[in-house]
Formats: sequence, structure tokens, C-alpha cells
Amino acid sequence: METQRWQQAQLNQAVQALKEGELVAFPTETVYGLGAMAENEVAVKKVYQAKGRPSDNPLIVHVAYPEMIEDYTGPLSQEAKLLMDHFWPGPLTMIFKLTNQRLSKSVTGGLETCAFRMPNHPSTLSLLENVGPLVGPSANTSGKPSPTTAEHVYHDLHGRIAGILDGGASHIGVESTVIDLSNPQHIMILRPGAISAEMLQAVVDVPVTYDQTILGKEGQPKAPGMKYKHYSPTVPVVMVEPQHFDTAIQNYAHVALLAEENIIQHYPQLPSFSLGNGSIEEANEFLFAGLRELDQPKHDVILAEIFPNEGAGRAYMNRLQKAAGGQKFDVKS
Ligand code: TXA
Ligand code: MG
Repeated sequence: METQRWQQAQLNQAVQALKEGELVAFPTETVYGLGAMAENEVAVKKVYQAKGRPSDNPLIVHVAYPEMIEDYTGPLSQEAKLLMDHFWPGPLTMIFKLTNQRLSKSVTGGLETCAFRMPNHPSTLSLLENVGPLVGPSANTSGKPSPTTAEHVYHDLHGRIAGILDGGASHIGVESTVIDLSNPQHIMILRPGAISAEMLQAVVDVPVTYDQTILGKEGQPKAPGMKYKHYSPTVPVVMVEPQHFDTAIQNYAHVALLAEENIIQHYPQLPSFSLGNGSIEEANEFLFAGLRELDQPKHDVILAEIFPNEGAGRAYMNRLQKAAGGQKFDVKS
């Protein structure tokens, strides 16, 4: 199949393809999603095939407005409404108990809960208004860094999906924060994202905590997707503290640098990708694009900058840890 590239003005072609049960990648503020109509079982199954995704890893259902969810969950709790008022449309995914079986097992991986998000991108919001709820895992081949441009999606999935709605680069760059609201008395963060625990806690009174496994503790993560190998370029990635780049660079023959501007400007002779001005927001925005860009056979290693593991930095470090398989440059070695 020839994968089409559609601009905003050709939205109706994307709508038509989705209504015919085809797969269409759509832009969001976090990363690109791979869309299929959420109530079309055959279409949803194609999503797993196209990505090569394990079938026990449930999908996020994307909606155009909060009320779309109540068809599946019944009336929303006070906490849910508060969080939606503050953070939707935006990079927050909420998991609710389902009250009926309108969504197929393929969407939920057989769980009695489902994840929902209202993304903040005008083209995708009008797409959702036209076709209804869409499943939307990140539009990458399973295991690879999530796509933040239409080109990344094309690289991974061309020939396997009907089309890509091009909405420009995703400006947040890491996937949404996933929270479990199936018990509204205790909110648990299953995947860190741009919306931090502190930001959530400022809005709700009930306690907000992280799933212990994403803090590096033992056990099975509560979001099935968090247990898989992820975000891995073919070239090995090693994490480096900002002050140790000089030493780390000596250890390899063909180094590529993924770091903020202040660091890479010291090494103009080395291939590099800039993570921006040193803010965690820019580091999140450019992390996946950099991992993809520097994944070239001529590099032995990608040396990637460590950022403080706090606030939105938890999202960055969570993705980087996985990309590096936990490998950190140790000055003593
Ligand atoms: O920013 C995002 O969330 C992007 C954009 C496209 O919206 N989507 C995305 O989807 O990252 P995906 O499928 O790559 O990641 C969904 C994560 C997985 O880790 C999955 O295991 C978890 O959410 N998840 C989905 N439904 C769940 C459920 N009912 N219970 C626990 N975890 C769930
Ligand atoms: Mg993903």
C-alpha cells in the first residue's frame, strides 16, 4: 500500500480513510499517534500488526471532548472533571473503569479499564469530531523512539498504513503522563510525562503518587507498555552527567553527542544533535528526534546528557534510561 501524506487542507481524505477502517497517523502535541476507529475491531487489530506491538499492551482512546468518554465509563468523578478542566486538551491520559463492552478486547488488552486522552492539536481535534474516538498508540515501530514528525512516522510505517496527517513537529516531544483514576481516592502515575506529580497535586486533594516500578523499584509496572524494551536506537546509548562529557568522549572512537547547546559547542568537530537551551522542556522536545537522527552506523555510541530526575525531568530520564538500557558513563571506569 502507498502511504499518503496529507496536509490540514486534506483532512477529509484522512476522515474517509479512517471511516473505511484504514490506519491514519495523526499529529499531537506529545508525539504522533497511529489512529484507527476505536469501535472497529478489525481496524484496531491492524494497529498492533502495523507496529509489531505485543497484544497485551492496551491502547489509549483519543476523544474530541470529555463527554465522549461517558459512553464507556458512565458519569465522571469530581476529580476526573477537575483534572480535565485543568489539563485537557493536553498531555494527560486518564485510566477509568469501563461500564460496558463497547470497546473491544483489542483496545484494552482484556483489562476492565481503559485509558483516554484529549490531545491538544487543532487538526486532530477536528479529525476526532468527524470520526469519533480513535485509538492512538505512538506511531513508531514497536521498540523504537516515538515519532515527533510526519517524516519519522513515514520512516517507520510507510507501506503499512493508509496515510499520515501532517501537523508539523510535536512540541512537547515525550508521550503523555498516564494516571490511573480507577480509584478516585488515590491517583497513581503509571508513566511520567510533561505534567508532573506536583502539577497534578496542585489541582486535586487526593494523594498523587508514582507507580514504584517507574522509580526503579522492583516489581511489575502497572502500565503494561512500561515493561517492554523501548526507545532503542541501533547504536548504543550511554548516559553522561553534564560535567563528564570531556572524559566520556575519550573512551570511544566515533562519538555522537546528544546534549544541550552549551555542551556541544565545546566539541564542534563531533557529530551532535542539540537538546536546546538547557531547559527540560526543550530536552523533552528534542530527545526522540535526536535519538533517531544520531542512529547511524558510523557512530559507535550516542553520549546523551543526564538531566535532573524531577518534575518534567522524570519523563526525560524515564525515556533516556530505557534508550540506554540503564548504561551510564562512570568516571572511575
Ligand atoms: O502522548 C501519548 O500518550 C501518545 C499520543 C499519540 O497520544 N500515545 C501513546 O500511546 O503514547 P502508547 O500506546 O504508545 O502508550 C500507552 C501507554 C502504554 O504504556 C500502555 O501500556 C498504557 O499506556 N496503558 C494503556 N491503557 C492502559 C490501561 N488500561 N491500564 C494501564 N496502562 C495502560
Ligand atoms: Mg508508544
